[in-house]
Amino acid sequence: MFKIEIDQEIHLELIHPTHAEDTFEIVTRNRELFGRWLDWVEATKSAEDTEAFIDYALKSYAKHKELNCMIFFQNRLVGNIGLLGIKKRYGVKVGNLGYWLDEKAHRKGIMQRAVKKMVEIGFTIYNLEKITLKCAIENSRSCNVAKSLGFTHEGRHRADIRVGGVLMDVDSYAILKEDWIDDEL
Ligand SMILES: CC(C)(COP(=O)(O)OP(=O)(O)OC[C@H]1O[C@@H](n2cnc3c(N)ncnc32)[C@H](O)[C@@H]1OP(=O)(O)O)[C@@H](O)C(=O)NCCC(=O)NCCS
Repeated sequence: MFKIEIDQEIHLELIHPTHAEDTFEIVTRNRELFGRWLDWVEATKSAEDTEAFIDYALKSYAKHKELNCMIFFQNRLVGNIGLLGIKKRYGVKVGNLGYWLDEKAHRKGIMQRAVKKMVEIGFTIYNLEKITLKCAIENSRSCNVAKSLGFTHEGRHRADIRVGGVLMDVDSYAILKEDWIDDEL
């Protein structure tokens, strides 16, 4: 397991089975909020489900298909961020960001800082050419993360995700490597 320092308050750790208990506890406590926007929440019913997810994420990491990390704020696990679905699509190397944060840790800029670091890793370590971020159009808090970091709004996909039985339209944001300037993010 490796650790990536972001600043004095925040660090990332590669997802690991030892994170399962804390992760499941956060998902349980935030079930109503997360269940509005994340399609896997309903199916996460026990710590074993979280362990199975971690196992899948580590296998995908080994195959260079995703980088999934836990977010720590003042050394406490507060969230998760993943650079997912890493692949060459129509000749362009892309990855898609996904994330969640314990409600207790909201409005401190934690996710903005975590996304900024993952974008840097995506472009410099994984040599991605484009990083996408997709959120339901009503999920303004998530869309704000993309906007605040200078992602470009590329369009809207109708009926693109079903969460808790609700079909939602999705806004698609992206940043290109050629647009990315480390200090400006
Ligand atoms: C999406 C989500 C992570 C956003 O959380 P958040 O706390 O709004 O985002 P950040 O951690 O980037 O914090 C930004 C907020 O902190 C404030 N802030 C405070 N200190 C800050 C700092 N040092 N730097 C930057 N922003 C700071 C910002 O002003 C902003 O608040 P505002 O929206 O009231 O203007 C959270 O709502 C969540 O987990 N939702 C449920 C899961 C989800 O929707 N996942 C995404 C699916 S697409």
